Amino acid sequence: ALVSLRQVLDHAAENGYGVPAFNVNNLEQIHAIMEAAQETDSPVILQASAGARQYAGEPYLRHMVLAAAEMHPDIPIVLHQDHGATPAVCQQSIRSGFTSVMMDGSLREDAKTPADYDYNLRVTRLVCDFAHAVGVSVEGELGCLGSLETGEAGEEDGVGAEGKLDHSQLLTDPVQAKDFVERTGVDALAIAIGTSHGAYKFTRQPTGDILAIDRIAEIHAAIPDTHLVMHGSSSVPQEWLAIIRANGGDIAETYGVPVEEIIRGIKSGVRKVNIDTDIRLAMTGAMRQLFNEKRSEFDPRKALLAAKKAARGICKQRFEAFGCAGMA
Ligand code: G3H
Ligand code: 13P
Ligand code: NA
Ligand code: ZN
Repeated sequence: ALVSLRQVLDHAAENGYGVPAFNVNNLEQIHAIMEAAQETDSPVILQASAGARQYAGEPYLRHMVLAAAEMHPDIPIVLHQDHGATPAVCQQSIRSGFTSVMMDGSLREDAKTPADYDYNLRVTRLVCDFAHAVGVSVEGELGCLGSLETGEAGEEDGVGAEGKLDHSQLLTDPVQAKDFVERTGVDALAIAIGTSHGAYKFTRQPTGDILAIDRIAEIHAAIPDTHLVMHGSSSVPQEWLAIIRANGGDIAETYGVPVEEIIRGIKSGVRKVNIDTDIRLAMTGAMRQLFNEKRSEFDPRKALLAAKKAARGICKQRFEAFGCAGMA
C-alpha cells in the first residue's frame, strides 16, 4: 500500500535503521527495487524527480507505482517527489497521488542559485500548509549540497548550485535547523554534510573524515523529531566502473560515499538515504557488458533484464546494510 514518508520514517527512527530512497524513471528500475524489497522484506521509498515525470509521463509513472503496490500488497511504499523546485511542482505531485513531497527551497526556482533563508522558509512553510492538509509528508532542505573536498556542487545538468560554494554553505547549521523546523513544520530535513549529487563526488578514495558525520549528530540533537535525509549517497561502486570501462565506456576516476560512512550516518540519526547514481552505473555496466559479449543480440529485453538484475543487487545490498531488511 502507499503510505506517507512520516509513517515509514517514524518506524525507522523507533527501530534505529535507515531507508534507501531510490530514484525511479522506468519499469525496470521499479521492478528491481520491488523485487529486492520483497526478497528482504523491506519498506520502500520510490522517488521521482521532475525529470523522471518528464521522461516517463506523469500517468505512466503513477500507474507503474500503483501496479507495484498491487503486486506487493505487504510492502509499504512511499511515492516521494524528489527536489521539488517550486510549490507548484509539489502541488502537481500531490494531485498525482504522491504521498510525500520535497520542497527544495535551498535553491531558487532555477534549481541552480542558492536561495536566501527567508525564501526557503516561505516556500517550505507554504508547501507544509497544503500538503499536511491532505496527509502528505514534506521534506525540506537546509544548506547546499557540495563536496567539502572541492567546494563543487557536483552534477552539471541536474540539481545543484552552480560554481564554487563556500564552506559555511556546505554544512547545515544546527541552530538554524531548529528555527527552520519550528517555523515550517517539515517532517524530514535534507542536510548538507559534504555529499554531492552525481558520479563525481570525490577525487580520492574517501577516508573516515570525508563527511561531517559529527555534524549529523549535532543536528539530530537539535531537531530529534525531524527525520534527517542524506542526499548524494551513492557509493559509486568501483566494480561497476570497471565493467563500464572494460566494455567501451569512458568514465574518469571517481569515488562515492562508502557504505560504511552511510551506516555511521544512520547511527548518528540519518533516516532517508537518497540513491540514484549507483543504479544508473550498475544498469549501464550490465547493458554495455551484455551487448559487448553477445554481439548478435538485438532483443532489448535481454539487456534490460541484465540491467534490472544489476540494479536489484545494489538495492538488496543497501536494504541489508541500512538495517531495513525484515522491517516491512
Ligand atoms: O537529485 C537528482 C536526482 O539524481 C535526479 O536526477 O533530475 O536527472 O532525474 P534527475
Ligand atoms: P546520488 O547522485 O548520489 O545517487 O544522489 C541522489 C540524490 O540525492 C537524489 O535526490
Ligand atoms: Na528527496
Ligand atoms: Zn538529492
